[in-house]
Amino acid sequence: MLITFKKLHPSFMAEVSPVDLREVSDEATLEMIHKGMSEYGVLVFKGQKFSHQDQLDFAQRLDGELHSKTSNSAVSKNRFGNDALTDISNVTQDGDIISANDRRRMNNISNRIWHTDASFVNPAGRYSMLFARNIPPVRADTEFADMRAAYDELDEQTKKIIADLHVFHSIVYSRHTMGFDFAEEEKAKLPGATQPLVKMIEGSTRKALYLASHADYVVEWPVPEGRLLLKDLMEHATQPKFVHYHEWTLGDLVIWDNRTTMHRARPFDDITYKRELTRVTTLDIPRR
Ligand SMILES: [Fe+2]
Repeated sequence: MLITFKKLHPSFMAEVSPVDLREVSDEATLEMIHKGMSEYGVLVFKGQKFSHQDQLDFAQRLDGELHSKTSNSAVSKNRFGNDALTDISNVTQDGDIISANDRRRMNNISNRIWHTDASFVNPAGRYSMLFARNIPPVRADTEFADMRAAYDELDEQTKKIIADLHVFHSIVYSRHTMGFDFAEEEKAKLPGATQPLVKMIEGSTRKALYLASHADYVVEWPVPEGRLLLKDLMEHATQPKFVHYHEWTLGDLVIWDNRTTMHRARPFDDITYKRELTRVTTLDIPRR
């Protein structure tokens, strides 16, 4: 099956020609999607008709092992009975809108700060695949930042300084900066992970800055000095020229590479309108 890509921004993101991903299982088409991911970092597939199981099956066909140690799984019982299918919604088990001061909401709205998914586990997250099942009548975009373009535009001295550094990523840290603290037994399920600050993915010759709100400290440096570096790099990488958005329509599946992009949810009136998306994230384990 031939698929084509229409670029959505000068440096990254593309919309894919119409295709029903439930029907895609041949190696050639899956490989074309991988090539597109490698080139554009974010792919938009319109008009999908996934059941929960369809979404899980496609993610595994495309990219293998699934991430299930999410912060949601530490905080509450999964609505769908499977921690690999992350409930990105503002809805309770009974289908009601989560109230303003609910603890689940406090955890979820922290996804409005720039991050990559599952940088706090090892192996880290590779692709995230987010599917729109129910969208509000108001804009509730997701924004993406191109971390390869951001790396390319660093000055040569900075590239040299950061080349071999490592960063400890912890969702316990990033949530704490937002005023949300996990209970001790929840923390035990989310120990954090050390990652390189600069990554190069297979099939690409370009390096990417690997940052996120979960980035706690630079392993090789004193903590305040490392945090200042991370803040500077975050500021650099989220300049408007590196950022693009996705405006959701029903049936959209957006796949992003967590190693070459960051993302954040934009605010909307989530006390009035329901928004229900499901996410599956794969782990960065070498493929076959
Ligand atoms: Fe996310």
